[in-house]
Amino acid sequence: MKIAIDGPAASGKTTLGKRLAQALGFLFVPTGAMYRAAALARLRGIPLKDVDINVTEEGRVLLNGEDVTEALASPALDELSSQLAVEGEVRAHLVELQRRIAQGRDVVMEGRDIGTVVLPDAELKIFLWATLEERARRRQREQGGSFEEVLEAIRKRDERDSTRALAPLRPAPDAVFLDTTGKSPDEVLCLVLRLVEERRARLAR
Ligand code: DC
Repeated sequence: MKIAIDGPAASGKTTLGKRLAQALGFLFVPTGAMYRAAALARLRGIPLKDVDINVTEEGRVLLNGEDVTEALASPALDELSSQLAVEGEVRAHLVELQRRIAQGRDVVMEGRDIGTVVLPDAELKIFLWATLEERARRRQREQGGSFEEVLEAIRKRDERDSTRALAPLRPAPDAVFLDTTGKSPDEVLCLVLRLVEERRARLAR
């Protein structure tokens, strides 16, 4: 079974994805972290063709075999990864890696274009959403900084991620839209586990 979670910046995709994958015993694939690792590779001057990114069962992100997980959650990589994500060659390279990782296994994959481009045949597609203010509050709790600056950075990134020509952020027609504003991670996980059960029951029929 493949589960796609898409949504705007700081909508809770990683929090939900990790916990869902753990509950189901699936591999979690954070493709946002893969774009961040590709941005790190660019900063290090590694040519795209030499960039290999993998994720481990333990949730670590490997860039050419090196564990770079801790380096990925920074405001600088928030912005650079979003800029890099408009480039067709970068997207093609990462989509290929993402499909290879997902091939033949149960996965929960999060990103912007998972339900629309990477795994269009996913058995369950979730589009996770929350108001801009709520998302800025969540990100500020994680990263610190001024609320206004965090909100503006997310707004700018959302705009770029949703208006780019290639694979823009948008819900797949068959995605379940889930507004998480005011909901705790536990509540969101419960709702999605129920959707998984429904989907499994339907597939078994
Ligand atoms: O989810 P995130 O904030 O870690 O993602 C970082 C950037 O990577 C995001 O601004 C857009 C890009 N991205 C993308 O274009 N497609 C994906 N499937 C995942 C992320």
